Parts: sequence; structure tokens; C-alpha cells
Amino acid sequence: MAQPARLGRGGRWGRGRLSPVAPMEPTAEQAARWRPWMRRALQLAALGQGRTSPNPMVGCVVLDSSGQLVGEGFHAQAGHPHAEVGALGQAGARAEGGTAIVTLEPCCHQGRTPPCSQALLAAGVGRVVVAMVDPDPRVAGQGLAQLQDAGVEVLAGICGQEARHLNRAFIHRVSTGRPLGLLKWAMSLDGRTALPNGSSQWISGPEARTWVHRLRGQVDAVIVGGGTLRADDPLLTSRGLGPREPLRVVLSQTLDLPPQRKLWDQSLAQTLVVHGPDASAQGRQQLDQLGVERLELDPCTPVTVLEALAQRGCNQVLWECGPALAAEALGQGCVQQLAAVIAPKLLGGVAARTPLGDLGLVDVNEAQQWGLQGVERLGADWLWQLNNSPRAIQS
Ligand SMILES: NC(=O)c1ccc[n+]([C@@H]2O[C@H](COP(=O)([O-])OP(=O)(O)OC[C@H]3O[C@@H](n4cnc5c(N)ncnc54)[C@H](OP(=O)(O)O)[C@@H]3O)[C@@H](O)[C@H]2O)c1
Repeated sequence: MAQPARLGRGGRWGRGRLSPVAPMEPTAEQAARWRPWMRRALQLAALGQGRTSPNPMVGCVVLDSSGQLVGEGFHAQAGHPHAEVGALGQAGARAEGGTAIVTLEPCCHQGRTPPCSQALLAAGVGRVVVAMVDPDPRVAGQGLAQLQDAGVEVLAGICGQEARHLNRAFIHRVSTGRPLGLLKWAMSLDGRTALPNGSSQWISGPEARTWVHRLRGQVDAVIVGGGTLRADDPLLTSRGLGPREPLRVVLSQTLDLPPQRKLWDQSLAQTLVVHGPDASAQGRQQLDQLGVERLELDPCTPVTVLEALAQRGCNQVLWECGPALAAEALGQGCVQQLAAVIAPKLLGGVAARTPLGDLGLVDVNEAQQWGLQGVERLGADWLWQLNNSPRAIQS
């Protein structure tokens, strides 16, 4: 296997110019040596799950020049120190001549915290091993180039697949300008999500509902339509099971929304109502009086809503809407992952609700094929998880 490329000053990009570095393939021997440490760094990175948006989850391990572990760190929250800074702080002078193993290319720009590439150089590490290049255009290989330019040995691509999976929402947001979308619903074995009279609580059992509460605590926003708000009066919180509460988002064209709803009480979590230009004056006034934030978008579509949420720092959203908005979101490419909870119950009836409105298909062979990620049992129910994220991440 080829030796990892060494680019930067005097490399392929020409002397003195810092240019993006192509991902480098480690040799089999190098991969075997650094993989266990990278797995540890990935474990550390995952400790930031649900707290780091708009930033990625990052973990870092520092070894001294003899290969002994001297520092560990992870990015705990946006605005807090980056993983490298925490690990270098633990290592102190022992980092000199050592190796930093990081799950993502170190940043090289001044954000809310100083550049990590400079912190690594100041600590005098001799080698930096990363799992993947940072797709953020402000970094995109420049962090590695800076290190190489200063004479640091750089290896990239150890556990790259695992690192991309961990940060798939961040990568999706950076490469598309929209948060990764997960659409979730609960249905009976015969595919119904509510009775014709709207009764739907509860189709799934307590274990499945606990799984949803945990999930809400890990995403940045939960989205429903006005129909679900009127029918179910949902709370949409993690019930304290997640690291923090998501932003609760309601989409409504009309703003014909009841004055008494659980979402209007923002003592547990923040609520945002997004509407179009035709929303009623009365609806606007009611929300303003309730102290609920409104955002008018023209046009107001799932795509424009996601773009607005990306601007607010959301990497991942959970669509918990009914069939009308779910079909619209799917049709506009706003869903990359599906989670269907299937309860062993029969609701029957042709007028009972189903998870999705019309997708505009005229030939069953046109139906999109989703990739099965896994099936698991949640009490009496089954959870099916599917995705199309490989295509979405490349797009
Ligand atoms: N079992 C489950 O997992 C599950 C989950 C969620 C909901 N449900 C069931 O679904 C039923 C409600 O269905 P639904 O289809 O009415 O719910 P929905 O999809 O959540 O809401 C539809 C509403 O979303 C708003 N909307 C749609 N597109 C919009 C856009 N581009 N811009 C702004 N607003 C937009 C409109 O609200 P306005 O009318 O206010 O303009 C529209 O009437 C309920 O019976 C509920 O129990 C079941």
C-alpha cells in the first residue's frame, strides 16, 4: 500500500502555499498501530452527543514520545474548548515530540475558540493522526497543511468510516446547507397512525416512547405541522432523558392554532412557529401575545425551514409530523433517515390515517428504495431504522 502523502510547503501544492490536502491512505502497519487509539478518541468524541451543534463531535488522545497516554479530551459543547485543547492541557510538557490522535482534522481558523492547529504546534507534537479531513470550507485540508508546513508528520484516514458515521449530521449540514432529517412515526401492524376520529395516543408502548424521548434529546430540533399540534397537543420534550431539550418547531401556513397548547409553555423548551406570508393577522397577534417566537418565510417550505434552522446552528432535525407535512418533506429531499415503530395492533378501516400523504407516484416501480440500518425490539413493538444517507452525504 502507498505511503501517506506529505503535502504542504514544498509538496504537491508548491512552496509556501497552504492548500487543501487530499485524504491520505495509511499503510496497513500504520493503520494497525493507530486504530486502537483512534477508537478511543471516537469514544471520547461520542461523549459530546447532542451538545456540540453546530460543531461536530470531536475526541483527541495525546501520547508522549515513548507512546504512553498522557492526555484525553473531547468537545463537550459549542463555545467550550476543542478536544485537542483539553487533551494537550492534560498532557502539558509531555506532549512535546509526541502524537496527537484526533477524530477530525484540527481547525485552523479563529472561531469562538483559537485554532487547534496552532495549539498543536505550540505544544510541539511531532505527529498528528486524524480520522478524516474537516469538510467545513474554513478548514478543508488547511489545518493539516499548516501542520505539515511546520514539519509535523500527518496521517489521515484511520477509522475514517466510523468518524464520518459519527458526524454524519454535521457533514450533511456543512455540505448541503441543511440539517440531516430523520422522519419518525409510530403505526399499527396494518399501517395506521390514527383512527378516523384522530385518536392516536398511544399506538406504541412505553419502551418505544422512551426511545423517542431519548432521541429528542440528541437532535437539535423537532418539527410538527399545524395538524399535529391541533390534534395531539404534543409536548415534544426528552422528558429529561437527553443531554438537553430540542428546539420545538411548528410549521403552519394559516396560523389557525389553538390558544391553549403545551408548546406555548416554554419553561421546559423553546418553541418556534414558522409560517408563510398568508398567515392570519389574528394568528400572528396571538403568538406574539403568548411570547412564542415566529419566523415568516416566503416561500415557506420544508427546504426553506431547514435552511433557516441550519442558520440557527441545527445539524439534525427530527420530523414528528403527520402525513401531510411528512409527504411534503420527503418529496423535497428533506429526509435522509427513517424510523418506523410498528406496534402489534390492528386499527383497520380505510379512513384511518397512514404515515404518509400522497407522494405523487403513478408506478410502484418508481418508489424509492431505502437501506435497512437495523431492526430492534422495543417492548412489544419493533423499531425499523432505514437511511439513504450515503447518497445524501455525497450530494
Ligand atoms: N402516529 C404518529 O407517529 C403520528 C405522528 C404525528 C402525527 N400523527 C397524526 O397525524 C394527524 C395529523 O395529520 P396532519 O397531516 O394534519 O399533520 P401535520 O402534517 O403535522 O400537519 C399538517 C399541517 O402542517 C402545516 N404545513 C404543511 N406544509 C406546510 C408548509 N409548507 N408551510 C407551513 N405549514 C405547513 C399546515 O398547517 P396549518 O393547517 O396550520 O396551516 C398543515 O395543515 C393527527 O391525527 C396525528 O395524531 C401521528
